[in-house]
Amino acid sequence: MTLPLLPVFNSSSKPAHEIEWLFWISLIVCAVILAIVAGLIFYGLWRFRPYPGEATPEQRYGRPKFEQAWTFAPFVLLAVLFGLTVHVVDTGDPQSSAPTRLIIVGRQWFWAAHYTDGNFNTANEIHLPAGQDMWARIETADVIHDFWVPRISRKVDALPGIHNRLLLNAEQGTYLGTCAEFCGAQHANMRLRVIVSSPEAFASWKSHQRLPAIQPGEPVAMQGQKLFERRLCVQCHTIRGTEAHGLVGPDLTHFASRQMIAGEMLTNTAENVYRWLKNPQDVKPGSHMPNMQLTASQLRPLVAYLEGLQ
Ligand code: CUA
Repeated sequence: MTLPLLPVFNSSSKPAHEIEWLFWISLIVCAVILAIVAGLIFYGLWRFRPYPGEATPEQRYGRPKFEQAWTFAPFVLLAVLFGLTVHVVDTGDPQSSAPTRLIIVGRQWFWAAHYTDGNFNTANEIHLPAGQDMWARIETADVIHDFWVPRISRKVDALPGIHNRLLLNAEQGTYLGTCAEFCGAQHANMRLRVIVSSPEAFASWKSHQRLPAIQPGEPVAMQGQKLFERRLCVQCHTIRGTEAHGLVGPDLTHFASRQMIAGEMLTNTAENVYRWLKNPQDVKPGSHMPNMQLTASQLRPLVAYLEGLQ
């Protein structure tokens, strides 16, 4: 069944299908119980409603058969639901010694993704090949986060000092995800998107991402690159093929290839990048990117440079 407004009812991967199926079973079981209990209450209220002047009816106590029934029936029901839950946990989170191909690191407040077999990084936009197993490891660099893309996976905590594994294998499409554990001021703006494309499209995306950054050709973008390398930007960001090797902020090597910026807050357009660089604290208060007090004559070249990093 497809309810487009509720991603959890619109699963697009095997583990998510199982979770959705379990949800429906539980919902139906609970709905039937609610209908029976509520129906009996309303029937009793109506059938045994008091009449004026009527004496209190005889009170009966101790019906062992009934008591046994309403102890035993919920027990059986819960045991069945427990068994189904164990089955779903098992299929959604199978044991595997397959190598980790993707390391997803939660940071205040964005998701960094490292592809181990291409040795490159991206941020907030994760690409996957449709129908192929991709084992990911979920980590955190600071506080507890929780990786959740409802249509394709269960929730996985990103815990300090612990590496959780997650099997990703989804159908083609674009899926939005979020951090599902309160992690500070910008928790709500710690979103991500997962783009699942055909294995061929994924391979060509990957081979492009592996390349070092494009060297700017336009004078204004070249000026932007110089500014980037001279300012504090290089302390926090990496742009492969340049002086920038910082690890705190998102890797910007192919910044312009991403659809969104700032943890999915803004679309990746020149105007928005300008706005972001002018004062990140204005867009995302509390973000670890400081206000660099850049002037318009510095902002324009920087935007031109970053928007050229396809
Ligand atoms: Cu990270 Cu909430």
